[in-house]
Parts: sequence; C-alpha cells; structure tokens
Amino acid sequence: MDFGIKNRLSKIFSPKTGRTVMLAVDHGYFQGPTTGLRDMKNIIPLVPQADCLFVTRGILRTSIDPATKTSICLRVSGGPSILGELSNEDITTSMEEALRLNASGVGMSIFVGAKNEDRTISNLGRLINEAQRYGMPVLAITAVGKEMARDARYLGLACRMAAEIGANIVKTYYCEDFHKVAEGCPVPIVIAGGKKLPEMEALQMTEDAIRAGARGVDMGRNIFQSDSPAGMIKAVRAIVHKGATAREAFDLYHASKGESGGKRSSSAEAVDESMEKV
Ligand code: R5P
Repeated sequence: MDFGIKNRLSKIFSPKTGRTVMLAVDHGYFQGPTTGLRDMKNIIPLVPQADCLFVTRGILRTSIDPATKTSICLRVSGGPSILGELSNEDITTSMEEALRLNASGVGMSIFVGAKNEDRTISNLGRLINEAQRYGMPVLAITAVGKEMARDARYLGLACRMAAEIGANIVKTYYCEDFHKVAEGCPVPIVIAGGKKLPEMEALQMTEDAIRAGARGVDMGRNIFQSDSPAGMIKAVRAIVHKGATAREAFDLYHASKGESGGKRSSSAEAVDESMEKV
C-alpha cells in the first residue's frame, strides 16, 4: 500500500491498538430523522470519543465542527428510503467530494442475496477502482435484507465477497460463531451494533466480537439511543482499546451516567420501530 491509503487507514484504526471505535450516525440517509439523531446536536459531545465518524456529507457539512480531530468515513451510497426496496442503491457521493471533505475513508452497502445484489456488488467494484486511484480506503457494509438470516454462513459469504472485490474494511453484524466470519475475511472487520439492546447485552456483544476477531465497531443506535450515550461510548472504547470485559465496561457506563454532555433529549426515549428492520 502507498503512503496515502496507509495514512488514511491510520486515522481510522488506532496505530496503538490496531482497532477502532467508529461512531455510525448515517442512519438518516434512508431512515430520515432517526431516534437519537433527530437533533444532531445530541451527538456532538460523542464525536471526540470516536476514532472515526461514519456520516453522510450533508450532516458533515451542517453539523460537524471542521476543527474536529476525529477522522471521517463518508457514507457514499443511497437511493431508496425505508419505504422502498433497500437494495436499489447507487453511489451518491463522488470521490472528488470525499477528497474535498478530507475523508479518511468511504463506505457503501452491498446487499448479498437481495433483489439488486449484483448491482450493489458492481457498484462496490467501481467505487474501489476509483478509490484506489486516490489512496482512499473503502468500507463495504454487508447490509442484511428483511428475508436474510444473520448467521455465520450468510454473513461469512457477504464479508468474503466484499473482501474479494477489494474492500479495505468490512462492516457486518455480530452472530453466533462469528470467528468463522472473521477467519474467512482477509481484511479487518468491524461490527455494526444493530437495533438497540440493553446496555449490558450490547457490551457483551462487543466483547464477544473482539474476542472472535473483529477489529472494532462501527456502532450507532446502541450508543446514541442509550440513556447515557457518553457512558456507552466510553464503555465500548474500554473494551475495544483496553481489553476491558463487558462487566468492567458496564461499570464504567454506570459511573458515567448523569455526567453532563451526550445525554439524550427526552423526546428521543423510544426506540424507533422502523429501525427494527435494519
Ligand atoms: C445503517 O443504517 C448504517 O450502515 C449504520 O451505520 C450501521 O447499521 C451501524 O449502525 P447501528 O449500530 O445502529 O446498526
């Protein structure tokens, strides 16, 4: 790898631990004003705690301080809303734009087994061809359609395909036998958190994923929909970067509860039902 891509990757994965805590706040690109992200001010105190922010260009421009030290991975695919066929995605943001916004990576979804599977895979190939020219890392997201099982066989297939097409990082869901998914994928895997879980369960999933070979998280709802987002991101960091157990991290989360900054507004209490689908 050339200097540029290595340098960008070092802004996503901590050079000290080789791992990353990415904060995913891109949900609005198909979901609209998601619970916890209705007012993007809610996530501002969390940004410095993340190694990398996974975000669309619209939110980056309108809501994120350009002086931030947190690196940016830009969501560059989209198209259908939560009301439509989710696999009908295309590339929505150009490489020139990603460079102008000083992104350290770009990310898009692939929908293996869904209606437009082949198009999303060839979109990934085209994005990587262009990204290679500029030394831009590509994160492939193995989005799971409504009909697909989130098991090691299916996720292993989707992750391996993404790596074979040339993705530098793959984001997928945690599942039983996750080590099989990680073993079959020759590039770093980060896990999405998925729908909101009780905090201890989300932290246990994080610990289990790291132990099974994940190189970090790209987590959204289990952080920003928590009753203490600041406490949760601190707890997740402790597992990912310091090797804390879920129990130790849970204690940290508890201790952080009530601290100012990052607490969700009361209007964001209920988990958004429509996000249960993804
Ligand atoms: C899907 O909307 C996005 O790719 C999210 O970035 C991804 O699902 C991670 O967010 P969460 O932890 O909420 O699943």
